[in-house]
Amino acid sequence: SAASAADGVAVVGSGLIGRSWAMLFAGGGFRVKLYDIEQQQVADALENIRKEMKLLEQSGALKGSLGAEEQLALISGCSDLREAVEGTVHIQECVPENLELKKQLFAQLDEIVDDHVVLSSSTSCLLPSKLFAGLVHVQQCLVAHPVNPPYYVPLVELVPHPETAPETVDRTYALMQQVGQSPVRILKEIDGFALNRIQYAIISEAWRLVEGGVVSPGDLDRVMSDGLGMRYAFIGPLETMHLNAEGMLSYCDRYSEGMKRVLKTFGPNPEFSGAVAEKVHQAMCVKVPDDPEHLAARREWRDGCLMRLAKLKGQVQPL
Ligand code: NAI
Repeated sequence: SAASAADGVAVVGSGLIGRSWAMLFAGGGFRVKLYDIEQQQVADALENIRKEMKLLEQSGALKGSLGAEEQLALISGCSDLREAVEGTVHIQECVPENLELKKQLFAQLDEIVDDHVVLSSSTSCLLPSKLFAGLVHVQQCLVAHPVNPPYYVPLVELVPHPETAPETVDRTYALMQQVGQSPVRILKEIDGFALNRIQYAIISEAWRLVEGGVVSPGDLDRVMSDGLGMRYAFIGPLETMHLNAEGMLSYCDRYSEGMKRVLKTFGPNPEFSGAVAEKVHQAMCVKVPDDPEHLAARREWRDGCLMRLAKLKGQVQPL
């Protein structure tokens, strides 16, 4: 059954990603309990969320149908794990990316949860078979991997453990849609899931092209931001093929020989170190010096761009 907005969710870990989840769930009208092992983190998170939501409301980018004050009223901090998860329909784990730490937390949750709540991990690269091994409630567990910054980049990869119940995936899929995210089903676990596998394929060839002296680091980035990225915000690589000929089969017919010829020339995995790393680093620092202030300013600029892109996508592709 679909979650209703009267239901509560728990967010465990109130760092960067936990804060975003709390805002998204509140945007969907859910009551949110925000827990952290560090009390100060919860206090900081609540203050930070308040500021963010006010800014979002001012710029017309606040999600959901409730105002900022109403959404803020839905979020409360919590210093007791059992209390945080009590009566919730969904628990979103957002603690640091450390297998032992996460396993410990899920073992703890395993002892206190009922047979109904969904246990969901935000992990970027830990596999469900490792995370949820041996849990009594393994059927209720899955990975829901967001993309940074989740408030503006809606994709969530849902990755089941081999023993995850189909209902767990279905319910999480529906919940993600309810809060305005765009879930995809990864049908079986694989290292890197889908997003990072594709991202690493791109990074890898980008690195080889720079390493081989084919293109400068700055120009390489523009191949994506002014080229491929323009359409990838709206259509994926497969639909791109479909549209760039008279349908997919026609594309394969016309271009498969050329693609295979080029693909054969790809080099081995880069080391991402040494002189090439130094060269790429220096090139990046020309545009964005790597001190905290410049990095933060550039991230803020990026998030502003993504916010406007998200608005545009909402206008051209009503859901
Ligand atoms: P973070 O370091 O900003 O926040 C982690 C929080 O967990 C901290 O507030 C910490 O006090 C708390 N914590 C530590 N141990 C805890 C425990 N036992 N119980 C409760 N809270 C505890 O980390 P961030 O960036 O928010 O990442 C969280 C998860 O999200 C990681 O698994 C990460 O891989 C994943 N993720 C991160 C993305 C990113 O770009 N930062 C993107 C997608 C996923």
